[in-house]
Amino acid sequence: MSINRPRGTNDILPGESEKWQAVEALLRTIAAEYGFRELRTPIFEETELFARGVGDTTDIVQKEMYTFDDHGGRSITLRPENTASACRAYLENKLYGAVQPVKLFYIGPMFRYEKPQAGRFRQFHQFGLEIFGTAAAAADAEIIAFAWDLYHRLGIRDLRLRLNSVGCPACRPAYREALQDYFRPYLDRLCPSCRERFFRNPLRILDCKSEICREIGKDAPSIIDYLCEDCSSHFAQVKQLLTAADIPYTLDTRMVRGLDYYTKTAFEIEVAKIGAQAAVCGGGRYDGLIEELGGGHIPGVGFALGIERIFSALASQGDDIETEQNLDVYLVVAGGADAAALAFRVADQLRRAGVSCELDYGEKGFKAQMKAANRLGAAYAAIVGEDEVKADSVTVKNMENGEQAAIPLAEIKQYFLQR
Ligand code: HAM
Repeated sequence: MSINRPRGTNDILPGESEKWQAVEALLRTIAAEYGFRELRTPIFEETELFARGVGDTTDIVQKEMYTFDDHGGRSITLRPENTASACRAYLENKLYGAVQPVKLFYIGPMFRYEKPQAGRFRQFHQFGLEIFGTAAAAADAEIIAFAWDLYHRLGIRDLRLRLNSVGCPACRPAYREALQDYFRPYLDRLCPSCRERFFRNPLRILDCKSEICREIGKDAPSIIDYLCEDCSSHFAQVKQLLTAADIPYTLDTRMVRGLDYYTKTAFEIEVAKIGAQAAVCGGGRYDGLIEELGGGHIPGVGFALGIERIFSALASQGDDIETEQNLDVYLVVAGGADAAALAFRVADQLRRAGVSCELDYGEKGFKAQMKAANRLGAAYAAIVGEDEVKADSVTVKNMENGEQAAIPLAEIKQYFLQR
């Protein structure tokens, strides 16, 4: 029986991996332009971090984590997201002692035990940003502008930015109560999870995917009517800055996001055409998270995007990332051991000079080597046979126009470097 990759995971093969590299390079370039520096945290963390950080009434913590006990009996979880880890790293490494705000980005795999479907995987890849140490609305607007900018640079069209404010500990209790008052008469009809959410975190009911809960919740009170003055004016500033930057948004007062740490701004960007998994990125402010994880009152804001969904969005509009595979020279051995040794020496010299080279390991005949040079798209074939060994030269063939020339060994490096 053959062994297959686990459900909901992907192999990124040559041909695809170059496209990933190109997207990642663009993300890194834009991050540097906006002043973000890379943070790399472990792929696994203590389970407690996510239970406390992401929130134990969320789907992620309740159903989707890859959690196991290690050999030392510690509960470990493969990171389902990276905001909690970034906060942990910020605290643990005392980054609050550096110049604030601290602006970080990350890129890497995340793990959620979700039902795999188009655009939804169990191992997927996120690029994300976090800004620590500022409560300013300008930081919220900056990360949204970043996301908006990068999708445009990638050529992704039909974007929709959904924006909300989910309030703060000052205004949320009253909203919570209003939601409970609204849902109480329907309690029996809510799904079993929402019946529990009703008591522990009624905002989560608004995020439920069940048809019946959605229907019941459609006239639920709106958070916007409950925002305190601070949240209201912060939200007004975010909107003002977005308008100033010509970034159109749609208010979605029912969007609570799938993680519990948000305060004030919450947003998602969607590409309608890619189907059910339309959210290409999401994020918001989380002013209480660092405190929740044992730090001081340090505000934060950030977002993360799914890299797989960049490719789905491009595919849905018939586009792709263009990459080139460049092979400068294919060395063709047309003789015995002496020719093979000379070819090896030439390949070695050229590679050291930064000219890309392919060389057969002595297993293919002349014709098969020429065919390989063609299939690999080599710009030149460099042929080394007995005559070349005697003459201390290499016969170079331009694969595009077929022209051939004998190049003395001493000049070969220069010859290719000039091309
Ligand atoms: P999230 O909305 O859970 O937020 O994930 C962000 C993005 O990751 C989604 O919009 C989607 O593009 C992608 N994504 C999530 N789950 C999957 C999946 N199973 N398969 C493929 N792609 C997926 C967060 O993770 C927050 N940490 C974002 C954040 C950063 N908030 C503040 N800072």
